[in-house]
Amino acid sequence: MATSSLILGPMIGGLSHNSANVWARADGPSTLYVWVGTQAEGKGAKLAGSVELHDHDGFAGVVALKKLSAETEYYFAVTLLRSRPKRGDFHRFKTFPKPGQAASFSFMFGSCYLPPNEHGGQTLDVLRQQVKDDDLRFGLMLGDQIYADDAKGNGIGHIAVSLKDYRGAYQYVWSRPAFRDLQADLPLFMTLDDHEVEDDWSWRDENRKWAGIPWFNKVLRWLKSIPPEQRHLSPERVKAALKTYVEHQVIHAPKLLLPPKTNSLGELTLGKDDGNFAYTFEAGKAAFFVLDTRSMRVINGKKRVLLGEKQWGFLQDWLLKTKDKYPVKFLVSSGTILHPFWLDVTRDRWNGFPVERERLLEFLAVHEIEGVHILCGDLHTAHAVSAELNCPSGKHLPIHEFCATPFEQKSMFVSNTYHPLFSKWIGKQKKLLHQTGQNFGIVNVDFEKDGTPLVTFTLHYNKNGWKTQPPVITG
Ligand SMILES: [Fe+2]
Repeated sequence: MATSSLILGPMIGGLSHNSANVWARADGPSTLYVWVGTQAEGKGAKLAGSVELHDHDGFAGVVALKKLSAETEYYFAVTLLRSRPKRGDFHRFKTFPKPGQAASFSFMFGSCYLPPNEHGGQTLDVLRQQVKDDDLRFGLMLGDQIYADDAKGNGIGHIAVSLKDYRGAYQYVWSRPAFRDLQADLPLFMTLDDHEVEDDWSWRDENRKWAGIPWFNKVLRWLKSIPPEQRHLSPERVKAALKTYVEHQVIHAPKLLLPPKTNSLGELTLGKDDGNFAYTFEAGKAAFFVLDTRSMRVINGKKRVLLGEKQWGFLQDWLLKTKDKYPVKFLVSSGTILHPFWLDVTRDRWNGFPVERERLLEFLAVHEIEGVHILCGDLHTAHAVSAELNCPSGKHLPIHEFCATPFEQKSMFVSNTYHPLFSKWIGKQKKLLHQTGQNFGIVNVDFEKDGTPLVTFTLHYNKNGWKTQPPVITG
């Protein structure tokens, strides 16, 4: 008899053409059983696997499903007892087309989820309807999947400072009915932005021994008489936050390119450039590189590091490897690359790391990488930007950036002060749309009869009711 209960999930992560990870979290020691079948409502579903849920992982775990068939519908359910789930407990997902296959598909992306009420807001309900209407295969959540530093919205009543606090924040935010229902019905890929740990945080040294938040945040909290441990970011706090990030957002992801190191107790050790949370995946003729723009970030005076050399190495290798094989490439970054703006005071985005931004644009232009689409969030307003890479050969290659944010957060109007990026590697920059209000983006990857890819970005936004922006189509 199971005495523990499921408190989060289930959800599908790390989906591919032949595999998927089923993730869930319980409130105590237990065994997670996963049931899978190919008929609606789980008719004939079989026990596909199980995993023990332990205290040291916050009772979160995954069961890996392997040897699945490509482009096939599956139905799954989870239990903590080895007894068949009810029909109504099954959820559907569909595996990807095989890598390299020219098959059309659609997915969602967006970021920033601060539940405005007990239900968890309206956006994810609208999005869930879109899963059916647009046959969405998966979603990309690009950061701020919790606001651990928001005492009003994190469910624990104060700024998270301990492992227990961070786990408590996930437990509250991800159990909002709107979030939990969407999570069960849409396979998800995730990456972190700042609020999984702290507002605008970074390391102070490359050895990742000291961390901090901006001085003005500290002063504001001091003026509000917030206790010292909630005003300072100790390395222990960062480790606790990143451990819960692993438990909730990483363990179901595709295999990391260079996983962060851990000690014998499973705690992150976080040394100098010895591991990060970046990963890649493919769906048909589209390849995705999901960047980690947070856990390697160092800001100390003039020293500014964003990705770390090892992540740069993986990114450059990936761009060269996918150059000809995958005509559509998605570079997934929590923060914007192609949308700098005059009132960006905190410079918390690629704008604050001009050397690395230039390095990226130069690499893309010199190696003539075609079909690059940047997906980003963070800004609390949505946008689309088109531009051309100026290649040394004289070629001009289109590049695009799509941004969708927030799911649930206040709009941030300063990003309306966009200016084109000053770089010799890029030209003909054009802001195609800019939108306030809660929103999410739908991307459709399609192919013309001659095999030419078409990528369409449709922004769904709430401004006195839900509407869509005219689609942005790239060739
Ligand atoms: Fe945010």
